[in-house]
Amino acid sequence: MVVKLGGMRTIRELDEDELGELMRITEQAFPGMKVGGTAEREAILERLRRVQQGGFSHFYGVFEAAQMVGVMRNYDFTMKLHETRTLVGGVGGVAVDLRHKKERVAADMIAHFLRVYVDKGAALTALYPFRPDFYRRMGFGYGVKLNRYSFRPDALPTGRPRARVEYLTAADREAVRACYDRFMERTNGLLALLPHVLDNLFTDPAQHIVGYRRDGVLRGYLLFRFEPARGDNWLANNISLRSLVYDDPAALSALLSFLRTQADQVERIVYETQDDAFHYLLTDPRDGSGNLLAGLWHETNTQGAGIMYRVIDVPRLFAVLGDHNFGGVSAAVGLTLTDSFMPANAGRTVVDVDGGRASLRTGAAGVEIGMDIAEFSSLVVGTVDFARLYEYGLATIDDPGAVALVTQLFHAARPPWCLTHF
Ligand SMILES: CC(C)(COP(=O)(O)OP(=O)(O)OC[C@H]1O[C@@H](n2cnc3c(N)ncnc32)[C@H](O)[C@@H]1OP(=O)(O)O)[C@@H](O)C(=O)NCCC(=O)NCCS
Repeated sequence: MVVKLGGMRTIRELDEDELGELMRITEQAFPGMKVGGTAEREAILERLRRVQQGGFSHFYGVFEAAQMVGVMRNYDFTMKLHETRTLVGGVGGVAVDLRHKKERVAADMIAHFLRVYVDKGAALTALYPFRPDFYRRMGFGYGVKLNRYSFRPDALPTGRPRARVEYLTAADREAVRACYDRFMERTNGLLALLPHVLDNLFTDPAQHIVGYRRDGVLRGYLLFRFEPARGDNWLANNISLRSLVYDDPAALSALLSFLRTQADQVERIVYETQDDAFHYLLTDPRDGSGNLLAGLWHETNTQGAGIMYRVIDVPRLFAVLGDHNFGGVSAAVGLTLTDSFMPANAGRTVVDVDGGRASLRTGAAGVEIGMDIAEFSSLVVGTVDFARLYEYGLATIDDPGAVALVTQLFHAARPPWCLTHF
């Protein structure tokens, strides 16, 4: 379907034979990608074609007359948001032809992306920003930060008598999917694995996937690769650990024991995770930098802001969260939102919470709060508490005595994590 964006500009999903032009714009916008020769380009195109055929990823192009001037990818994700699985729109690969920057091509694309997911029935969207401020202005709020830990393998707990782990292969695809799915069920914010993401776990020979089985069932797995620890010594390696997925403490312990036994050959394990309590697991949590912070604080990890969330339909969001327990409270909260990029979300509604169950109505309320859609998006997915937003001047309340109540209402038992890169 071709949608007019104003002037000569239109946007539509791309055909397979237009992916080459998409790549041209993408390569020029991201010179750091450094695509090599024809063979590499052909391989990337083939991958894009397969991803497109998978049906969960949609490649869009913005056109001025017949010329493609911008591209993006949209993803139909299923997110576990608190208790509920729900459709969430993802966007990535936003790139604008160098000759057409600063002509609001990106703004038009993002607005279209948001509209598409309103039409598809989603309440929430997510993205990894190339620059957080660019998307914050468009109403996206920060997610949970990522920590990069770097620890010695022997700082991991010894664990119980050594449990066996094994290498997993494509034959274990279904078991990996099921294990991830149970982890997703226990946590907040995870996106269901798209088929091509699941397939890719097994295709890169440099990436190892190790699992722990109990009674024939895969109870946990981890992904890792070896990275040189220092340029001048090929024997010195680190492990770069990605995704530690497990059912229970016994499964985690088995996976950690495996990592610990690499101590003779591995200098450090570098683990990038949104888990900010991981240092409790380590006998020595220092990250090897030797940096002391503010007196006597040992650097344990560096951090980065990444994934951002945006609510696109407030009434639908509360419908999606119909089974969510909003802090067990009973209160009528007047919620006034600003949303300059998507004005349909702006305005006031009353969140009527009865024993933790929320519904929306109009009329009078016991307490009035207000904030921008970006902060509201962070608040409702559980990345930040209301009390903080209030202290920082990012949220208002008419009765400061009710800050604790509103904080409890929106507080999430688990902040949202995301293990999917897109
Ligand atoms: C980053 C990039 C996509 C930006 O594209 P662009 O088309 O130049 O950006 P735009 O012109 O649409 O700029 C955003 C516009 O949204 C507008 N905007 C932002 N928030 C707004 C809001 N709440 N309400 C109204 N307008 C808003 C901005 O004002 C800006 O318009 P202006 O320049 O008229 O002020 C492009 O430079 C690029 O391809 N860069 C390299 C690749 C890259 O980094 N991609 C991002 C990957 S996620």
